[in-house]
Amino acid sequence: MARCFVTRRLPFPALDRLSARHEVDVWPERLPPSYDELVARAEPADGLLTLLTDRVDGALIEHCPRLRAISNYAVGYDNVDLDAASARGIAVGNTPDVLTDATADLTFALLLAAARKLPEAAAAVRDGDWLTWEPAQYLGAAVFGATLGIVGFGRIGQAVARRASGFEMDVVHTGSGPGSAETLETVLERSDFVSLHCPLTPDTYHLIDDAALSRMKPSAILINTARGPIVDHDALRRALISGQIAGAALDVTDPEPLPPEDPLLGAPNLIVVPHIGSATQAARERMADLAVDNLLAGLDGQPMPHQVNTAR
Ligand code: DGY
Repeated sequence: MARCFVTRRLPFPALDRLSARHEVDVWPERLPPSYDELVARAEPADGLLTLLTDRVDGALIEHCPRLRAISNYAVGYDNVDLDAASARGIAVGNTPDVLTDATADLTFALLLAAARKLPEAAAAVRDGDWLTWEPAQYLGAAVFGATLGIVGFGRIGQAVARRASGFEMDVVHTGSGPGSAETLETVLERSDFVSLHCPLTPDTYHLIDDAALSRMKPSAILINTARGPIVDHDALRRALISGQIAGAALDVTDPEPLPPEDPLLGAPNLIVVPHIGSATQAARERMADLAVDNLLAGLDGQPMPHQVNTAR
């Protein structure tokens, strides 16, 4: 029987499969463990089931002599130091595919909400500002037939493109995948909507900076459901205030959570939601299944069903 530390309660049946085979310590709080608490609770563990809010860095890994499997409850794994894990022979797994459609749906919800000014319009009703039907009130951008730029054409980027075909959008994209890829510059310059779907890596950190934003059309809207630090928030704030771009809709921010007093929230034409891309009951349950499958396999010394490193 191995010891596992699960860094948050996962209210799904999958965890019972883990408890049936191993000794499981679950962090009981709503808020994540601090880094020091994480290190202390992880120290005796053979396996970790972590969330994207947990920083699993080289120092933590070094502090855990028994650790042999890390299962991240997310498709993104930028919070885990893969090199440090691989060097120690620790398998690392993620939860791809099962959240693709949920995330693509949310991307489209944000795109439509920003294009059609839904937050302002809905607030007007509650604020008693719906005085009459007005010819020029809450005029938004047309989505049907517009050009959608997708930065990163993996599973989620392609799922967004499939939704866009229903709106007869012209899709241009960077990265590999079906169809011919364009440069980032071309995608930014041509698109009415730019949606980010690349992983966060040293290469994509602040990919959307002042220079990138200055290439976008003044009528364009930026959507980010990937990772917050891909966008330079100071640059985004300037672009929204100056009218360099028409709007932005973010499911992910830097930092997370974004404090209510963060200067970005003072920018106009901005929608921010709290990292809910995968937040459907079905997706989160299936993520739990995959995360437990990964951890059980890793603890058994088997390849994980979704392993993202080669444990040396
Ligand atoms: C992920 O899985 O990486 C998402 O950001 C959260 O589900």
